[in-house]
Amino acid sequence: MDFDEVVKKRKMIREYQQDRQIPTGILNKLLKNAHRSPSAGHTQVQEFIVAIDPITKKKLCRASLEQSQVEDASVLIVVCSNTSRSVNRYGKRGTEFYSVIDGAFASMIILLSAVNEGIGASFVGAFEDDKVTKILGLPVHVKPIGIIALGYPAEKPERFKRLELNNLVHYERYDRTK
Ligand SMILES: Cc1cc2nc3c(=O)[nH]c(=O)nc-3n(C[C@H](O)[C@H](O)[C@H](O)COP(=O)(O)O)c2cc1C
Repeated sequence: MDFDEVVKKRKMIREYQQDRQIPTGILNKLLKNAHRSPSAGHTQVQEFIVAIDPITKKKLCRASLEQSQVEDASVLIVVCSNTSRSVNRYGKRGTEFYSVIDGAFASMIILLSAVNEGIGASFVGAFEDDKVTKILGLPVHVKPIGIIALGYPAEKPERFKRLELNNLVHYERYDRTK
């Protein structure tokens, strides 16, 4: 698909066809693309937990304010940042700030790749960190950044209006009159 088209089409999809699973080939493609993400100082902190087991999905749904797309998804990719690879170089900035950005970059690549493959995806950031950590058995230095729910779309949600771009772009200095 044309890149601009992918960006234009991207929209969080939260309802999925229950009788259609995502083929392993496509799942692997999403992971391969995410693996190409940038990371601060090439620390490559991003790691991915793939959850397909309905019991795991149910538990993660409970840990994410009962958001149904987490349970209904064909597959979940939980994007994590392994801060043990960045803490020595960047200290607190690495563990608290770069880790989130690195995870977010990888997540966006998954969201865009999903559109390109005709897959619906939803990023879930509202979850209880300690519960997700326990469910997935994450070591203390591996931080969950986002749960990405994936499945073939069963909805066509309306597009949200965006704020006027003109009011959000500033040249040279912040324009306080905007
Ligand atoms: C950091 C972050 C956290 C988010 N957490 C959730 C979430 O927990 N549940 C959800 O349904 N959507 C979540 N979203 C998706 C946003 O609600 C969505 O991107 C926004 O409403 C704009 O819609 P669109 O992406 O479909 O254009 C999150 C998005 C971001 C960037």
